[in-house]
Amino acid sequence: MEKTWKIVLFSCLLGSFLVSSSAQTCKTQTFSNSKQYANCSDLPHLNCFLHWTYDSAAGTVDMAFRHSGTSSERWSAWAINPSGPTMMGSQALVAYVNSSGLPHPFTTSIDSMNPSMQQSDLSFGVSDLMATFENNEMTIFAVLSIPENLLSTSQVWQEGPVTSDQLGAHPFSGGNVQSVGSVNFITGQSGGDGSAGSRVRRRN
Ligand SMILES: *[C@@H]1O[C@H](CO)[C@@H](O)[C@H](O)[C@H]1NC(C)=O
Ligand SMILES: *[C@@H]1O[C@H](CO)[C@@H](O)[C@H](O)[C@H]1NC(C)=O
Repeated sequence: MEKTWKIVLFSCLLGSFLVSSSAQTCKTQTFSNSKQYANCSDLPHLNCFLHWTYDSAAGTVDMAFRHSGTSSERWSAWAINPSGPTMMGSQALVAYVNSSGLPHPFTTSIDSMNPSMQQSDLSFGVSDLMATFENNEMTIFAVLSIPENLLSTSQVWQEGPVTSDQLGAHPFSGGNVQSVGSVNFITGQSGGDGSAGSRVRRRN
């Protein structure tokens, strides 16, 4: 009897070890183009990660957003939202594997709760936009020229289905409705702590 319990306990410990060791953290992630970033953050939902380097002289944030454990039939997106930790107003970088079999990145400003997800300019400059899709990981690279009042702001990330180059609505449950937070590109703080709203309101 006692032996059975020991086996059960051991199996549970082994199980939890395997689960925790398979969870990625941004600190061990690398990029096939050998890029390196000063700061990174494990976003708390949807297996997503943010890497960046803030260059105060240039006023730019050189960044990479990675969505792990996805597929070529899903889209991935990351956004700054100057209006708060919500979908509406998001200044988004989006990528999906298109019908040519290539990861296709684009920008879109979300101005409706039923957005078209068509290419549009953002409220700040974006250059060097690129995406890679490898090992079921979508990574979006970009350099953002953001004004100082957006160095501490809200971030939103999301994913959903793609069929024949058409991006479908994201799921409306679980991590897909919790994937908002704050980001401070200077201090390196980022996450889904829900305090983003007050940090945004602090600016005047
Ligand atoms: C797929 O994406 C690549 C990279 O952005 C682009 O060059 C190509 O034209 C796209 N193909 C289609 C069918 O949209
Ligand atoms: C973010 O990067 C800056 C510049 O390298 C560094 O000084 C700072 O310690 C980093 N912050 C975190 C939380 O890693």
